[in-house]
Amino acid sequence: MRTVHVETGKPYDIYIERGIIDQCGEYARKLSAAKKVTVITDSNVAPHYQWRVLNSLEKQGFEVKTHIFKAGEESKNLNTVSEMYNTLAGFKMTRKDIIIALGGGVAGDMAGFAAATYLRGIDFIQIPTSLLAQVDSSVGGKTGVDLSYGKNLVGAFHQPISVLIDPDTLKTLSDTYVCDGMAEVIKYGCIKDSGFFKNLADENALDHIEDVVEKCVSIKRDVVSRDEREAGERMLLNFGHTLGHAIEKIYNFKGISHGMAVAIGMVLISKAGEKAGITEKGTADKIEDLCIKYGLPTHDNASFEDMAKAAISDKKTAGGSINLVLLNKIGESFTKKIKLDELLNFITTD
Ligand SMILES: NC(=O)c1ccc[n+]([C@@H]2O[C@H](COP(=O)([O-])OP(=O)(O)OC[C@H]3O[C@@H](n4cnc5c(N)ncnc54)[C@H](O)[C@@H]3O)[C@@H](O)[C@H]2O)c1
Ligand SMILES: [Zn+2]
Repeated sequence: MRTVHVETGKPYDIYIERGIIDQCGEYARKLSAAKKVTVITDSNVAPHYQWRVLNSLEKQGFEVKTHIFKAGEESKNLNTVSEMYNTLAGFKMTRKDIIIALGGGVAGDMAGFAAATYLRGIDFIQIPTSLLAQVDSSVGGKTGVDLSYGKNLVGAFHQPISVLIDPDTLKTLSDTYVCDGMAEVIKYGCIKDSGFFKNLADENALDHIEDVVEKCVSIKRDVVSRDEREAGERMLLNFGHTLGHAIEKIYNFKGISHGMAVAIGMVLISKAGEKAGITEKGTADKIEDLCIKYGLPTHDNASFEDMAKAAISDKKTAGGSINLVLLNKIGESFTKKIKLDELLNFITTD
C-alpha cells in the first residue's frame, strides 16, 4: 500500500493499491459517519466496477444508490449534473452522506461538482479508473463542467475526503486512453523530475505503474499544496497545454485527444525555448522520443499562426500577455510572460 498525504485546507490521503476498489466500503466507513452513499459513474465504467463497489459498501452497512450517466465529454454539462441532483435529492441524501466518484476525469469532475454544490457541499471520495484521472484529475480539488462556450467554465474547488487508486482498473482501459494519460505522466517528468523522466525512457511505465502513479500524484500534490488556488506554481502543470489547447481548439476537440495535443504542445514549446536560448539544446528531442515511445504524436500540420490565434483566445490569457511554461532543461520548469503580439514569433520554429 502506498499513501500520499495531501495537506490542503482540508487534508486527505490518497491510497494506491491493486484491488483497493474491493475495500472502498472499509475506507468510507473509517472516514465517514454517513448512512447513505451515492456512487456516480459512467456507462462504460459501471459494467466493470459498479458491483464490486456496491458490494463493498453494502458489507459495511451503507445504503447505496448508483447514478449512471452516458460516458463521454459530451455529458460533462449542467444537464447531467442536474440529473445527479435529482438522484441525490430523491434518495434523500443529507449533508452527512457521501458521494463516490467512480470513473475517469469526466465522472470525477462532475461528481465532485455535484458534491461541492448539493446542500452547499457534501463529502466525496474519488475512485479514479482512467490513467489521466489517477495521475492528474483526481488530485487537486478542481471540479466542474463544460459550457457550450468552452471547457470547464463552471466549477468549484472541493477536496475529496480520500482518493482510492486501484491500478488494476487500467487493465480494462483502452490503449488510446492509456496513451492519453501517459502524456500527463511525461509532463510531470519534464517539469519536476529528470530521474523520473529517465526511468520512463529506460523502462516500460506500465510494468511498474504503481510507482509511476505514486510519483505523479506526489508531484501534483507538492505543487497543489503550495498553490491550492492556482495563483502561481500550479501553472507549471500547464506545461505543453497552451499550445495543446490551441491545437484541440483548431480541430474543435474532435479527432485529436487531449493527451495527443499536450504531447505535441510539449515538443513545440520546448523547440521554441531552445530557439530563444532558454531551454537546453536537445530537450525537445528527448521529449519527442519519449512521446513516440508511449504512442503519442509529436507534430501537427496546424500552422503557427492558427496556434497563436487559438492560444490568444484562450481563457488563461490575462492583460495583453500570456504565461508560457518553459523548461530550462528536463526536470526544471518556470513560467514566462510573453506579450500577445510576440507570441507568434516566439513559438515559430522550423
Ligand atoms: N479536475 C482536474 O484537475 C482535471 C485535470 C485534468 C483533466 N480533467 C478533466 O478530465 C476529463 C478527462 O478525463 P478522462 O480522460 O479520464 O476522460 P473520461 O472520464 O471520459 O474517461 C475516458 C474514457 O475511458 C472510459 N473509462 C474510464 N476508466 C475506465 C476503465 N477502467 N475501464 C474501461 N473504461 C474506462 C470512460 O468511460 C471514457 O469513455 C476532462 O473532462 C478534463 O477536463 C480534470
Ligand atoms: Zn492535461
